[in-house]
Amino acid sequence: MSKKRKIAPSILAADFSRLCEQIKLVEKAGAEISHVDVMDGHFVPNITIGPAVVKSIRMCTDLFLDVHLMIEHPLNFIDAFAKAGANNITFHIEAADDVGAVIDKIKSHNINAGLSVKPATAVAAVKEYINRIDLFLIMSVEPGFGGQSFIENSLEKLKEAQEMIQSGNLNVDIEVDGGVNPENIQEISRAGAEILVAGSEIFGADNPTRRFEEMHKLLTQSHI
Ligand code: DX5
Ligand code: ZN
Repeated sequence: MSKKRKIAPSILAADFSRLCEQIKLVEKAGAEISHVDVMDGHFVPNITIGPAVVKSIRMCTDLFLDVHLMIEHPLNFIDAFAKAGANNITFHIEAADDVGAVIDKIKSHNINAGLSVKPATAVAAVKEYINRIDLFLIMSVEPGFGGQSFIENSLEKLKEAQEMIQSGNLNVDIEVDGGVNPENIQEISRAGAEILVAGSEIFGADNPTRRFEEMHKLLTQSHI
């Protein structure tokens, strides 16, 4: 049986001067997840937010906080983000010195652990960790910035990830992040994505609530 597909609005494209209000707009539309992008200026050429802002978001909403770390040495920051209120912490396989240790550290906080691959990293790189994680994030743009175009070969990577998870009979969510829009959302969903991150399409819209609803409707129709 296929799982319920979800859109995770990324606050990267939101108005940071009224973050709480912006999150409420998608909450009102039925969003269950808020995707929070953390960048350090080293792993990616951009800087965003740290644990203090995650803590503020936690005080503003009960949504599932899906924290996406695009940082070097993630092991050093897991405690801080977990204490700030993350429900899931995803880190990059390319960034971690000891991938297993980071997974263990996240799990020690009784929250979900996610592992991500950049566009140039093969799905197979995650194979040895797949039975220890809750979420597998396939980046469909080069991490660092919102508003980029979806990289088409991500569809193949999603299928590969799905095969890996199904053949192991595992309960791992497949997430995709970058360039998701109303035109490609159904194809991406059919390729195997269960959590679809969308930033600029939603928070760049005049009416984020309505845009979320429209994209959610397309998503629910994609498996009929
Ligand atoms: C990019 C981030 C994404 C970003 C997606 O590095 O990880 O979460 O917000 O933005 P859009 O939906 O605009 O591609
Ligand atoms: Zn992200």
